[in-house]
Amino acid sequence: MAKYRIAWLPGDGVGKEVMEAARIVLDGLKLNAEYIHGDIGWEFWCKEGDPLPKRTTDMMKTTNCALFGAITSKPQREAKEELIPELKDKNLTYFSPIVRLRQEFDLYCNERPNVAIPGCPLNLKDNINITVFRENTEGSYAGVEFGPVTDDLKKAMLKDAPKMKIFMDVPNEDMAISTRIITRKGAERIIRSAFEHADKFNKKSVTLVEKPNVLRKTGGLMTEVFEKVAKEYPHIDSWFDNVDAIAMWLVKSPEKYEVLVAENLFGDIISDLAGQLVGGLGFAHSANIGTEYAVFEPVHGSAPKYEGLYKVNPMAMFLAAKMMLIYLGEHEMAAKLQKGIELTVKEGTVVTYDLGGKATTLDVAQEVLKNALK
Ligand code: NAI
Ligand code: MG
Repeated sequence: MAKYRIAWLPGDGVGKEVMEAARIVLDGLKLNAEYIHGDIGWEFWCKEGDPLPKRTTDMMKTTNCALFGAITSKPQREAKEELIPELKDKNLTYFSPIVRLRQEFDLYCNERPNVAIPGCPLNLKDNINITVFRENTEGSYAGVEFGPVTDDLKKAMLKDAPKMKIFMDVPNEDMAISTRIITRKGAERIIRSAFEHADKFNKKSVTLVEKPNVLRKTGGLMTEVFEKVAKEYPHIDSWFDNVDAIAMWLVKSPEKYEVLVAENLFGDIISDLAGQLVGGLGFAHSANIGTEYAVFEPVHGSAPKYEGLYKVNPMAMFLAAKMMLIYLGEHEMAAKLQKGIELTVKEGTVVTYDLGGKATTLDVAQEVLKNALK
């Protein structure tokens, strides 16, 4: 019997291609694993009205963790139009399967390392090493939204928020409200993950990304919890930066930051910014981690314009696979894979179009494997 059971979720478009590449590398490294395919993505929305069928989440529950490629998602109207005729009148609503995975498996911690690979021509600077901890289940993406609103809702809001008064005359159908929900538990566990990471890897600082002077209640709670947790790690420097200010600082002096922690929306934006400092979508990768389970993925989507062409860079997928190896405790194998990635980037001959090369996704897999085993 294999040592690990890994849920294998290629998804749509280039997701399938980078997963094929990942398999070449993992098999070449001789990871003792059994890979169990799971259906996920647009095809299953169109055919079954569910992009994440229950059989997939049931299967995942029997595995150690999952590796995920990418999915296609489209706005609600287009989603409805692409359903098979039998499902069109069933009043189905499309939900992003990756958001659902995060909620269903309580994968509260989205960890996104942004480390400059030496010699990568896309690095803004070569001394960037920033890991973003993004809260993955609540904040602005909890999915609690209203539109059109109701009189009851408006009245209830007015009771506790007098500033609501200026909106009371707006017609209900001309108004939409999205919430930003922060809980003490949610804030504490993501902030703690960030400090634990800093502690474990000898990082000097942790920065909270917030906007507490404007978002007083939610930002206030985040800041309060941050200050409390920071006291437990007196050897780690800690401060908070406003989200807008840090967007500039990250471009100007990225080497100043080591670990960032943020709620869902701010974390989403700031981690994409950080990703672009060190190679962009061809390298950006992440882990969605909960107490019981984890899903590893590249950050990019299904890139429909490249589908079937085997053109996209599989490095992001390999780096996600490397995070998975570390999660499984396969540190030696993870180090080999990292070496394979670094050597391949440094040589710069077998690389994809984004790095100025002509190699295919699978050529890069073979090259990374060869370099990993050197
Ligand atoms: P995308 O990430 O799929 O691609 C945007 C562009 O980035 C591509 O056209 C390509 O130029 C570049 N790119 C992406 N991955 C690359 C790679 N590995 N190597 C080199 N270049 C790469 O984003 P887009 O076009 O906005 O979305 C396409 C579909 O993917 C949509 O349906 C969207 O909803 C979905 N999506 C899914 C995500 C996921 O599965 N986690 C994340 C982002 C988008
Ligand atoms: Mg994003």
